[in-house]
Amino acid sequence: MNTVKTVRELRAAIARARAEGKRIAFVPTMGNLHAGHVALVEKAGQRADFVVASIFVNPLQFGPSEDLARYPRTLIADQEKLVAAGCHLLFTPEVEEMYPQGMGLQTRVSVPSLSEGLCGGSRPGHFEGVATVVTKLFNMVQPDLAVFGEKDFQQLAVIRALVRDLNMPVQIVGEPTARADDGLALSSRNGYLNDEQRASAPALYRMLGRLADAIRGGETDFAELIDSGNAELIAAGFRPDYLEIRESNELQPASANDQQLVILAAAYMGTTRLIDNLAFDR
Ligand code: PAF
Repeated sequence: MNTVKTVRELRAAIARARAEGKRIAFVPTMGNLHAGHVALVEKAGQRADFVVASIFVNPLQFGPSEDLARYPRTLIADQEKLVAAGCHLLFTPEVEEMYPQGMGLQTRVSVPSLSEGLCGGSRPGHFEGVATVVTKLFNMVQPDLAVFGEKDFQQLAVIRALVRDLNMPVQIVGEPTARADDGLALSSRNGYLNDEQRASAPALYRMLGRLADAIRGGETDFAELIDSGNAELIAAGFRPDYLEIRESNELQPASANDQQLVILAAAYMGTTRLIDNLAFDR
């Protein structure tokens, strides 16, 4: 696997692969890779001949009081995992390479409606930062397809919309959330949890499962379900950020007739904000 830090080197390496007629898949990440990322890279390898990954902790998608400075940076271990997963080319740009005009002068991409509420409500500007960096990365790599985790359900919806609305010739592939044996969704932020917090954290996914079972069983009082879900989180030591039931395509609040639903939640365990979701057919 070749690791490059500049757009120029990236484009040269991709041009060589294209000249050999290779189909290109792309997996953008912020590093600190775990089994969930490995699954994205493996999926990319099943769908294409040449797999490109990026590691860039994108300052544009972090709020001023968020964990940008302490976000874990583990390049050597990440490179080993990427090689084992079959990645061919890794792009690890510095901030100056991605935003040479400075972030204040950077053209932004914003996806209306889908970026509002849920994580967009708690993290103002977050999805504009994501949409902007993903657009830039897509223009740099020009992949045939790109793979994203379904754990970031709203992010995946935002990226599907931006590709559709800006006519980008990139197929977006979603990969189911990778989980620990006890159900906790794998996340780089799980590393912030102490042992006691880690032991309590699976309550988040258990709660989502209980609510989904209740809805599949015929429960229609969503407000009551949300109250009981929040109470369950608090009892497990979480401070809930949001818990919502939406229809899973446009992410609009779920109505009694919607068949495809997703329950989305974010909650703090100590200072660590965890997110998870469960999509299901009624
Ligand atoms: O999901 C992530 O790790 C990031 O939001 C992404 C898509 C790499 C953009 O920085």
